[in-house]
Amino acid sequence: MYHTCYLHEKVILVNVMYAIMAESLAKMYRGGVWGIRNVSFNAKTGSITVLLGPNGAGKTTTVSILSTLLKPTKGRASVLGYDIVRDTWKVRERIALCSQDIADDVNWSPLEAVKGYLIARGWSIRDATREARRWLEELELWDIRNRPVARLSGGQRKRVAVAMVLASNADVIFLDEPTSGLDVEGKYRVWKALRAVIKDGATILLTTHDMKVAEIALLTGCRAVDAYYIATTKARQRRPHAVRLRREHTTEDS
Ligand SMILES: Nc1ncnc2c1ncn2[C@@H]1O[C@H](COP(=O)(O)OP(=O)(O)O)[C@@H](O)[C@H]1O
Ligand SMILES: [Mg+2]
Repeated sequence: MYHTCYLHEKVILVNVMYAIMAESLAKMYRGGVWGIRNVSFNAKTGSITVLLGPNGAGKTTTVSILSTLLKPTKGRASVLGYDIVRDTWKVRERIALCSQDIADDVNWSPLEAVKGYLIARGWSIRDATREARRWLEELELWDIRNRPVARLSGGQRKRVAVAMVLASNADVIFLDEPTSGLDVEGKYRVWKALRAVIKDGATILLTTHDMKVAEIALLTGCRAVDAYYIATTKARQRRPHAVRLRREHTTEDS
């Protein structure tokens, strides 16, 4: 499934079935350490794709490359048809990223954090206030919306960071370990919110080192989930880096 798109006065064909396409991505860090080698996968538009792998497997490296924070050493990738290296700014206009490490020294409240993030992305105060309320409620943070983030628990802070990007209405949302440090209830909340986001038409790529989280993703309610396993660089030098685990029905199929 393709549609035409204009870029630099050239007509390009955009694959609308896959919002993210990664082909043989590799990254060598300074000092000769391979962060990833040969990562290939496609993320379906309007669905959730999980990158699962142990610590050091290269999940953060992969997400950093796809969200244009790092340049790949080899391989290529596109987000919504835009090449991540050539069309960096086009990609940046369409994505939101929730990093693995979140700031904990801020004096903002959850409400100010989400609202401020949306206003910085160009939203009106009215729209930002409305959407901030929706996502703070969704992630069970509304009751503590005015408490300084520095006085929240690690799990609450993580949910504030997740609420910010889910509220963004970005077409493609990257979440690096959004459920780490959360209790079961918190994990469930996040998954419920993710399902609401893809119902709105967004595409989500998230990472986790926790097999149980991937299982929740694959086995509970959400039908639009794909999962890929990333092995560590040493273990999989001769194998493809990202291995598809299991494919549920996708939104296109259902
Ligand atoms: N800035 C860096 N410099 C050198 N090596 C790095 C850097 N960042 C990550 N690495 C290495 O790259 C590999 C993948 O790391 P990372 O992408 O953070 O894995 P994950 O997110 O799956 O835990 C690891 O071996 C890690 O030590
Ligand atoms: Mg990581």
